Amino acid sequence: MTIGESSAPENAAEFEWKADDIFGRIATRYDRLCDAFSFGIHRLWKQKVARRIASERWDVLLDGATGTGDIILRVVAQAGVEGRTILASDVSAKMLAIAEKRLHRHSSAVALKLLDAECMPSVPTHSVDAYSISLGLKICNRRLALQEALRVLKPGGRIIILEASNIPWTVLHRMYLAYMSVCMPVIGWLATGGDASAYKYLLQGIREFPTAEGLAEEMENIGFEDVVFERLSLGIVAIHSGRSPSSRHNV
Ligand SMILES: C[S@@+](CC[C@H](N)C(=O)[O-])C[C@H]1O[C@@H](n2cnc3c(N)ncnc32)[C@H](O)[C@@H]1O
Repeated sequence: MTIGESSAPENAAEFEWKADDIFGRIATRYDRLCDAFSFGIHRLWKQKVARRIASERWDVLLDGATGTGDIILRVVAQAGVEGRTILASDVSAKMLAIAEKRLHRHSSAVALKLLDAECMPSVPTHSVDAYSISLGLKICNRRLALQEALRVLKPGGRIIILEASNIPWTVLHRMYLAYMSVCMPVIGWLATGGDASAYKYLLQGIREFPTAEGLAEEMENIGFEDVVFERLSLGIVAIHSGRSPSSRHNV
């Protein structure tokens, strides 16, 4: 175990994007899947996290695992793009192609980048003011992704994370997981026309992701300061935020 005291695996979903182009296969159905899995509630979560991102001070924002651009679309609607640069990144060219279409009106400010959140050598150290990642950390190696976020953030830069979390009432959380174990395979199977892998990773990522307190501790152990979190929908997801130290040596 290398991250803090957490017993959660570093890659909650055990997803290896180089071995399985699952998001490429479901790209055209991804947004419908989100609606189906969450009964549309993901829209409220995304609206909330976009508001948080928009309210931060930044000229350069890097969004990791951006998918079909759902978060950036909302950020742009709230914060505008005047004088700003947004790097919307993902490992899936097919997800990015959808994001590009949806964001084409803002192409002067939004750059779509094929980037692995765990290792982004083309992004200079201390070059972005804010880093966001939504519903992507559970399918990455968290330690590597968080370390890379810290590296690219300018001193004092902000990180904002929306991710699966835990309902603090254990019985309720177990009931939620039991419900998801039944409902996700059925909905996933129907929505993807029988592609079993579509929901396997997401379900495992939800089950194995650390608690809100655990993720906050991991972020602090990696070097983020002022880490706080807010539970949404009883704790089904949480928004964590933190700051890279104001003065530090290169990581
Ligand atoms: C569950 S989707 C989330 C998409 C979007 N952020 C949202 O909130 O709708 C996860 C995304 O992470 C991407 N992804 C998976 N592993 C990645 C990695 N190592 N680096 C960057 N993106 C990754 C997938 O291609 C997919 O688009």
